[in-house]
Amino acid sequence: EVLKYEEGFNRAAGAISRFPLIELKGVPLRNYIVQNWSSISAFEPDPTDLLIATYPKAGTTWAQEIVDLLLHNGDSEACKRGPTVDRFPFLEIQYPPPIPSGLDLLKKMKPPRFIKTHLPIQLVPEGFWKHKCKVIYVARNAKDNLVSYYHFHRMNKAQPDPGTWDEYIQNFMRGKLAWGSWYDHVKGYWKEREKKNILYLFYEDMKENPRQAVEQIMRYLDLSVSEEVIEKIVQLTSFNSMKDNPMANYTFIPKIMFDHSVSAFMRKGEVGDWTNHFTPAQSQVFDEDYVRQMADVDMPFRTSL
Ligand code: A3P
Repeated sequence: EVLKYEEGFNRAAGAISRFPLIELKGVPLRNYIVQNWSSISAFEPDPTDLLIATYPKAGTTWAQEIVDLLLHNGDSEACKRGPTVDRFPFLEIQYPPPIPSGLDLLKKMKPPRFIKTHLPIQLVPEGFWKHKCKVIYVARNAKDNLVSYYHFHRMNKAQPDPGTWDEYIQNFMRGKLAWGSWYDHVKGYWKEREKKNILYLFYEDMKENPRQAVEQIMRYLDLSVSEEVIEKIVQLTSFNSMKDNPMANYTFIPKIMFDHSVSAFMRKGEVGDWTNHFTPAQSQVFDEDYVRQMADVDMPFRTSL
């Protein structure tokens, strides 16, 4: 019997530390992921499985909740059957035992399964493409994504120490953070989105028009729910609703790992918080570098903000 994440975390609380990163094909990943890479990359999904892919802190949990509610016709109780981490196994995640791996949880579940990944597209197991699984990708503007990830490093004891704010910006720009370069990540999925039929969403669009986001996901999943249910899902997946939802706000992870008193997982949920963090000088350096790193792709402006 595979433990649930929550129980595993509680039993292994003492083993949680700031796990070091190791590069896998040029992408820094947590040591446990790299050590178990052969089984992760060999994962065989079912054609009915759905993958939600993001760079960390781009709006994964939000998209997950929309998907789950759509699949359950807006039934909020059904979507409280377990915490996000159990409802959407995290494909590549590996921890010290007895915390179950994403693969352990997936083996227990019958398709269709909802699967979360932060892997850049080139590391996504081949099976997802072979079986033409549906893939939803969410991208968030670089500076807000960086700010959110910075605070997440502070509160998540499984992530490396973030260092100073200035060092953190440098590491982000150099692709040295866990799951690698933001630039390569968003560009990688963007370039393949048509060929691989990926639904590519932007956090900023979801904020501006959440109803449209719910409808886009609905259509992509070939679902049809009533106007009332769409409206209900928009309400249930607002930042404030999710912040108060114990099955979606990550308070189910023990404090030894996620210390919400340092920074809440549901922190601000806004567009443009970077202006409260970057100095004008930092912003200028970042923007100049951004133009260089994004020069080979024609992406909408909102990812650069
Ligand atoms: P902030 O740190 O800027 O608040 P992920 O789920 O990929 O880890 O991303 C987490 C980020 O998405 C956090 O950003 C979090 O607050 C934000 N978020 C989560 N749910 C949201 C929602 N329903 N609406 C808007 N933002 C949300």
